[in-house]
Amino acid sequence: MVKIRTSNLNLHFGDNHVLRDVNMEIQEKKVTAIIGPSGCGKSTLLRTFNRMNDFVDKLKISGTIMVGDKDIYQDKMDLSRLRAKVGMVFQKPNPFPKTIFKNVAFGLEVQGKHSKCEVFSIVEESLRAAWLWDEVKDRLHSPAMALSGGQQQRLCIARALANCPEVLLLDEPTSALDPQSTAKIEELCLALKDRVSILIVTHNIAQAGRISDYTAFMYLGELVEFGETEKVFTVPKDKRTEAYLTGVFG
Ligand SMILES: Nc1ncnc2c1ncn2[C@@H]1O[C@H](COP(=O)(O)OP(=O)(O)O)[C@@H](O)[C@H]1O
Ligand SMILES: [Mg+2]
Repeated sequence: MVKIRTSNLNLHFGDNHVLRDVNMEIQEKKVTAIIGPSGCGKSTLLRTFNRMNDFVDKLKISGTIMVGDKDIYQDKMDLSRLRAKVGMVFQKPNPFPKTIFKNVAFGLEVQGKHSKCEVFSIVEESLRAAWLWDEVKDRLHSPAMALSGGQQQRLCIARALANCPEVLLLDEPTSALDPQSTAKIEELCLALKDRVSILIVTHNIAQAGRISDYTAFMYLGELVEFGETEKVFTVPKDKRTEAYLTGVFG
């Protein structure tokens, strides 16, 4: 099943033509990696899926993006609902300066439609799903900022999961982490694809190879190649993909 479909997606920041005719189908409940040299438009593409570029000055965007059966660029789109449905985790862990509990409960408390008891059980379930519960269950009310970088990143994942997302966008989520915390997040991605479709931008080719079902290779704003990771890695169709994978540029 296709979860996200882009058709003739073009995006400009002023004169800079950042995404060029991107046509892409992202499969439901799979891990899709987006790779490519720095500046090729990976983050920008990822951010179109929950309209995080909307704030950028001189943004011009054309084409369509469907998430499920919804055209997310239609005028009536409710952006806070979209961002709950399409959650995002960034390179640098960004917990709120609040307690561990409040970080995860935040979105639920904003909605204001859950009882205290429901909030607690969703917080617990989300922390368990993000593999953080056992490490924090005895200090739920201490500051999130006191956690290690890897724990903070899993907390950000738990915060996203509390909103029952259908898609999780991860933009280089491990590039600020040590190898052990990185391995944990990679395994977590594999475990989470039962419940959510995952898109991960990474500059780490080996990481894309380890965890993704599909790989998208971008170059200068173009989606050069897209396919099953195994095929893209072993028999790339495009010379530029091959060059990137073998480290000729990057
Ligand atoms: N907020 C922004 N305002 C203007 N230009 C931007 C902004 N963010 C990114 N760009 C430009 O868009 C292009 C793609 O950037 P980006 O998507 O961040 O690349 P990548 O994630 O692949 O390194 C670059 O030329 C970058 O300078
Ligand atoms: Mg980026």
